[in-house]
Amino acid sequence: MANFQKVAHIDDIPMGTMKQFKLGLDLVVIAHTDKGFCAVEDCCSHDSAPISDGYIDADGHIVCARHGAKFDCCSGEVKAPPAVVGIETYELKIENNEIYIAID
Ligand code: FES
Repeated sequence: MANFQKVAHIDDIPMGTMKQFKLGLDLVVIAHTDKGFCAVEDCCSHDSAPISDGYIDADGHIVCARHGAKFDCCSGEVKAPPAVVGIETYELKIENNEIYIAID
């Protein structure tokens, strides 16, 4: 069973932005796009740059600031090179306007 931990209030992450949080040993980025809230690891699969240094583009993809790789916020799937492998995602739920992330 997933172990959910409260991380933030929905108002902490306005639409079109993302923010880094530390969960145990993990650095996690919560992104807010028109698809809703999603959580991914804060580490680009291309060369380990912090995803949180990047931004969300007009298509709702996370863009890595270092070399421009793009990832789907919800699936972590690669949407543009130079990355060829997706990034880890975390299960997320919202209850009473609070964001919870499942951790191991
Ligand atoms: S480190 Fe992210 S694109 Fe290279």
